[in-house]
Amino acid sequence: CPQHTISWLKGNITMYKYLGFWNIKSFHEGTILAQKCFKAEPSDVLVSSCPKTGTTWLKALAFAIVTRDKFDESTTPLLTTMPHDCIPLLEHDLKKVEDNHKNSGFPLVATHLPYSSLPESLVASDCKIVYIYRNVKDVIVSHYRFLQEATKLSVDDAPFEAAFDDFCQGISWCGPYWDHILGYWKASHERPGRILFLKYEDMKRDPRNNVKRLAEFIGYPFSIEEEKAGVVENIIKLCSFENMSNLEVNKSGTHRPEEEDIAIENRLYFRKAKDGDWENYFTEEMKEKIDKLIDEKLSGTGLVLK
Ligand code: A3P
Repeated sequence: CPQHTISWLKGNITMYKYLGFWNIKSFHEGTILAQKCFKAEPSDVLVSSCPKTGTTWLKALAFAIVTRDKFDESTTPLLTTMPHDCIPLLEHDLKKVEDNHKNSGFPLVATHLPYSSLPESLVASDCKIVYIYRNVKDVIVSHYRFLQEATKLSVDDAPFEAAFDDFCQGISWCGPYWDHILGYWKASHERPGRILFLKYEDMKRDPRNNVKRLAEFIGYPFSIEEEKAGVVENIIKLCSFENMSNLEVNKSGTHRPEEEDIAIENRLYFRKAKDGDWENYFTEEMKEKIDKLIDEKLSGTGLVLK
């Protein structure tokens, strides 16, 4: 399949285009394996996203909600295991997903795959899908800073302008970003009630309502007693950026340490978590270009990404 070596990362990362979307090598190979072998269970809940849209936060929340009968804030594995290691990625760790099916009936499965690349058994099943998305400008900056830091380049050695241009051409991790979202958006209209869309900015503004929506949608609603006892607030606090980014595991651990090419320091998943950081990077011209592009791409779909 077509390849693109990312010039602004000094050739450190090559992306592969498969079925219309770009991905890094090991996830590209994992995609093909998952498509061939994954058998969805009706109880599965798919946590899906394009990278840098708030996946880590959503995983932490979903994990805390689903496991709250077993653990509280002082015993939860989230204190010692980073969220990406709590919920395996379908296209990266199919074995762990299958082990979860066999051993524990743990329902959460994560993916960055576009809807059109999901394994057939998942599309055909009735399992629920939760999809998080975020303002495109902040995703561009978050994506840039993540890859720049992961490849250990300085900001001066990795020009933002080139990263921006690649992103606008659709060349980003799991991009084109707008096509990724639109795939799930269209599918949600074909199968109403199957996909919950959560917007990162809405979750920041109103975490309580969004966490309750999430819990209800995935089949783990909070009881009145739990609400009275402050369980929702405790989960929000546990999974907050302030708390998660200060846990030792997230400050000093490494995600996938055994896999040299995609081992990432956990701290890189917790950068600023601010809305509007794009204003520190974008020129007026860039702002106009991306606004125009998004208007074109999303015109008539009812989605708002600005
Ligand atoms: P920034 O780079 O803007 O800081 P993903 O998890 O999909 O890779 O997205 C990473 C983005 O989510 C980063 O944004 C990161 O700081 C932010 N993030 C990580 N954990 C978070 C949390 N608990 N609450 C809110 N945002 C969080």
